[in-house]
Amino acid sequence: MKTALITGASRGLGRALAGELARAGWALVVDARDAAALRAAATAFGGTVTAVPGDVTDPAHRADLARAAGGGLDLLVNNAGTLGTTPLPRLADQPIPDLAAAHATNVLAPLALVQALLPALRERRGAILNITSDAAVENYPTWGGYGSTKAALEQLSNVLAAEEPDLAVWWADPGEMRTGMLRAAGEDADAAPPPEEAAAALHRLIDARLPSGRYRASELADAR
Ligand SMILES: NC(=O)c1ccc[n+]([C@@H]2O[C@H](COP(=O)([O-])OP(=O)(O)OC[C@H]3O[C@@H](n4cnc5c(N)ncnc54)[C@H](OP(=O)(O)O)[C@@H]3O)[C@@H](O)[C@H]2O)c1
Repeated sequence: MKTALITGASRGLGRALAGELARAGWALVVDARDAAALRAAATAFGGTVTAVPGDVTDPAHRADLARAAGGGLDLLVNNAGTLGTTPLPRLADQPIPDLAAAHATNVLAPLALVQALLPALRERRGAILNITSDAAVENYPTWGGYGSTKAALEQLSNVLAAEEPDLAVWWADPGEMRTGMLRAAGEDADAAPPPEEAAAALHRLIDARLPSGRYRASELADAR
């Protein structure tokens, strides 16, 4: 049975992707900070699910996740993320401590999880999927702080792909999704597609084991 560790799986894209993989027979290790919401989601997934509540920025929690993943891991999905300051500020007004906290969640925690899980991933020639955003590469006003975290995650992924040729390393922009995060950004979330659409596209990426690189969920419709 294949095993995936998915961060931020209590709602939104993480929950949708965890549901996809659980239905396909994957064993899951999942996290989120709100323990009750995580347990409710894990029960809904069915199958073999280990729920480990905690904050990805907490080293002790990351050690718990690595223990739960055990000796072999097929897939690590760094999905948990934060917008940082809301309402989204222009860079002129970006509080630096907020930006440091956003980098801790969106960049440093994913890298620390990669470091902790590389031995287990190498054992199974596994894959890493880092969830990024078009904000990493576009210049939308007020999205600079958040965008800088996703740009950093993209370049870490790019170099990791070169350093770990036996793994698949993907960094993927899911596109706009109808989730709490998009709502918190002040966007019209109801006009966006549900996260299940991006999750299905990312599932195709995983199943097809496409080469390491940057992907957009909207372009994965035909992936096999
Ligand atoms: N929504 C969009 O339109 C959009 C577009 C492009 C990219 N993305 C990216 O897609 C990913 C998922 O976004 P989403 O819209 O699904 O977000 P969401 O609905 O806000 O869900 C975020 C999930 O991550 C968990 N989480 C947040 N901070 C965490 C932390 N420090 N430690 C552990 N878990 C944490 C949340 O649970 P708790 O709060 O209980 O911890 C929740 O389960 C993010 O990386 C986001 O940047 C989203």
